[in-house]
Amino acid sequence: MLNESICYRDGKLFCDDVPIADIVTETGTPVYIYSKRRTLDNLKHIQTAFAALNPHIHYSAKANANLAVLGAIIGAGAGVDAVSAGEIHRALLAGAAAEEIVFAGVGKTADELTYALEQSVGWINVENMGEMKLIDTIASRQNRPPARVALRFNPDVTADTHPNIATGHGGAKFGLSAEVIRDILARQAEYPNIQIEGIHIHIGSQLHNTAATQQAVEATLELIAPYPAIRTVNIGGGLPVAYSPEEHIPDWETFASALTPLLMGYTVMLEPGRSIIADAGILVASTLYVKEQAGQSFLITDASIAELIRPALYEAHHEIVPVKEPSTVSTQPYHVVGPVCETTDVLGRGVRLPKMEPGDLVAVLTAGAYGMVMASNYNQRPRPPEVVVLEDGQSWQIARRRETWDDLTRYEL
Ligand SMILES: Cc1ncc(COP(=O)(O)O)c(C=O)c1O
Repeated sequence: MLNESICYRDGKLFCDDVPIADIVTETGTPVYIYSKRRTLDNLKHIQTAFAALNPHIHYSAKANANLAVLGAIIGAGAGVDAVSAGEIHRALLAGAAAEEIVFAGVGKTADELTYALEQSVGWINVENMGEMKLIDTIASRQNRPPARVALRFNPDVTADTHPNIATGHGGAKFGLSAEVIRDILARQAEYPNIQIEGIHIHIGSQLHNTAATQQAVEATLELIAPYPAIRTVNIGGGLPVAYSPEEHIPDWETFASALTPLLMGYTVMLEPGRSIIADAGILVASTLYVKEQAGQSFLITDASIAELIRPALYEAHHEIVPVKEPSTVSTQPYHVVGPVCETTDVLGRGVRLPKMEPGDLVAVLTAGAYGMVMASNYNQRPRPPEVVVLEDGQSWQIARRRETWDDLTRYEL
C-alpha cells in the first residue's frame, strides 16, 4: 500500500524524495526498491509500541536478507533471528554482534550448529529432543561455556492467518509439545553443556487478531511457571501489515497492549520480519504487452512469480499501481501477469489501471518482505537488482546488482 515513503508527488510515484522512474532509468526493470527511512520508522514504531516491555528486537532475516537492509536494521540496534548458517553468516557480515543473533529453525544440521556455537551466537531455539543431544555433544567438544537455549513451544493454537503461514497448531512441524518440554526440563542434568534460559513461540505470520497470540502466551507462562530459571520469553514475529486498504488488521499497539500485562516482569524478545520491511519495498515492472483475450485484458509485465512468488504461494494480494499517476479517473481491469510458463504466474487479478501501453511502468506495493528472498531463476531468469533509498531520502544505492546470463550457469561444472 502507499504510505509516507512510497507515494505520489506531482503525478509521479516516489520512494521518499526519489522518483521511481529515475531509478528505473539506471537499473532497468524488474527492480526491487526499498526505503531505508520507512524500514527504520517501522522498527522504531514497534519499539515504541512495546516500550513498556523494553523488548529485545531480533529482526527476522528470512523476510529480507539483503546486506544493506540487514546492516541498516542492525545499525539501528536490532539483533537478528536467523534460521540457517547462511543467515548467521549474512548477519555477521552485516555487522551483527554474535550474541545478538538467535539461531532458530526446525532442522538445524550438525555443521550449522557447530558453526553457530563456534561463533558464540546468543541463543539457539531448540525444536526437538535430538537437537538437544546434538547441541550438548557439539558444545562439550568445543570446551566453551554452556550453550544458551530457548525451547520452542508449540502451543496448539489456531492463528487467524492463511493456513500456509500458520505454525502454532498441533499438526504443524514446528516446536515442541508441552509434554516434551516438561520432559526436557525434568532431565536437564543430561545436558550439562546447555543452559535452558528461555521459551520461544511463533504461531504464524500476518496475524489478523491478537486472540491466538494471547492464548499462546498464557499457555507459555503457565508451562514455565514451575521453572524460575526461565525468565526470557521470545514471542516470535507475526505482526501484520495491510496489503490493501480493505484489509483490516489490528495495529501494533493493539498487540502490545494485549500482551504487555501478561509479560510484565519477563525479559521479552520479538522477532518481527514482515512488519519492518514489507511496506518499505516495491517491485517495479515494465509493461511488455497488453493482450485482449477471452473478454479479459492481460497486462504482461517483465516481473513474474520468479521475482515475487507470494501471490502464487499464499494467494497473497498486492496492490499494483502505475508509476505515472493516472491523469484520468477512467480505469479498466487487467490481469497483471508475467512471462513465466505457469498458469499461476499472476501478480494481480482484475487490477484497475488506466489504459496501459507497452513500456508503461507499474509498481507492486508492499513487496519488501518475502519478495526477493524467495526469488528464483525459474525459466532461467536472472534475479533482479535491489536498490535502497537512503535515510536522507535523496541518495540511493544499488544494494545488489542484476544477475547476468553468466550468473545463471556459474555453479555448473
Ligand atoms: C520463528 C519465526 N520468527 C519470526 C518470524 C517472522 O515472522 P513475521 O515476518 O511474520 O514477523 C518467522 C516467520 O516465519 C518465524 O518462523
